[in-house]
Amino acid sequence: MLEVGRDEAKAAARVIESGDLFRYADPKSGHPNECAKFERELARKIGVEHSLLVTSGTAALVCALAGMGVGPGDEVIVPAYTFIASPLAPLTLGALPVITEVDESLTLDPKDVQAKISRRTKIIMPVHMVGLPANMNAIMRIARKHNIEVLEDAAQSFGGKYRGRWLGTIGHVGAYSFNYFKNITAGEGGAVVTNDDGVFMRALMHHDGGLAFWPHGKPFDMPVFAGWNYRANEIQGAMLRVQLRKISRLLRRTRAQKARIMKTVAEHPKLRPVSYNDPEGDCSTIAGLRFRDEEQARTFMAKLAQDGQGSWTPIDSGRHVYSNWEAIMAKRGSYHPALDAFRRPENSKSKARYEPDMCPKTLEILSRTVFLDIRPQTTAGQQRKRLRAIAKAADAV
Ligand SMILES: Cc1ncc(COP(=O)(O)O)c(C=O)c1O
Repeated sequence: MLEVGRDEAKAAARVIESGDLFRYADPKSGHPNECAKFERELARKIGVEHSLLVTSGTAALVCALAGMGVGPGDEVIVPAYTFIASPLAPLTLGALPVITEVDESLTLDPKDVQAKISRRTKIIMPVHMVGLPANMNAIMRIARKHNIEVLEDAAQSFGGKYRGRWLGTIGHVGAYSFNYFKNITAGEGGAVVTNDDGVFMRALMHHDGGLAFWPHGKPFDMPVFAGWNYRANEIQGAMLRVQLRKISRLLRRTRAQKARIMKTVAEHPKLRPVSYNDPEGDCSTIAGLRFRDEEQARTFMAKLAQDGQGSWTPIDSGRHVYSNWEAIMAKRGSYHPALDAFRRPENSKSKARYEPDMCPKTLEILSRTVFLDIRPQTTAGQQRKRLRAIAKAADAV
């Protein structure tokens, strides 16, 4: 959450006062139509044909993969550093996640992606973690070579870019999260974006099993299959329209702050940034530093803390580190054995492994990385204080 306040409250209040909270209705009936408007505005902003608002980022990943035709027998390459939702999404559809190392950019390591490709690989899912763009040129090259599609998990990076293109629009399909912690938010929410008509129609159908029955809910011209319910409501649509208008301004502020931090980093012999695949496109909601080893990283963090400055290391971020994904490490893919992708006969030939020590490089990189959160609201005085503290802590490591 970068900023939520009076404007979002007014937008939500307008919907509540209209009494029309359900997204599907005849637009001519005076219905607020906020979800549909958000979808159009989002698509226009990032330059894609289709966008679909759903209830969460997890739902966006699941609908995207369903739209891409993923199912039992398929493998989806996911990074070892991401929120557990990224590997859970293919599991939900009967496919297997293939957990792959990240490199010094904290995003998918193209070399390990290449090594993990098998005959079953259907999708590569780069994740732009904490706003950091993945190495999309290398990933798209590998995908093209093997005729594999790419789903960008841009849950943590709405508003970021890679070489001038919005994150989420470079692969075949993109997925965003709008949960409380994300760059734009309605408390919960997510979106699928794509230029592919077929993917969009299937994602649309999967997102709402009742779609064919709602007025103005059924724009598809393919046979209906059984879907689910990941339908957003008008309050989410209204809040997100406001958030969408603010994001570029807020990221200009975080980027300006990161530039100042990186200047301090460049001037100090003991400080090194993480490897940025696109330093300008990075959302800059964190500044990433890398150290020689975990001990040095923790010393730096402790010194910063002595000056009242917060920082964190991604190895401590629990749900984002593959070795902590208990259900996956234990290969418990469902509450019901017959629905468990790990036990499905179609997946029996997969060589995918699930062991806490299987991606040692990722664990090593995460343990010597330090993140400094960047908030758009931080004042110039607070920033100066932090820059002094960073230089002082670096002197001490
Ligand atoms: C990288 C990543 N992917 C997917 C998700 C899932 O999003 P949600 O929590 O909206 O379901 C998240 C959310 O934290 C995430 O960080």
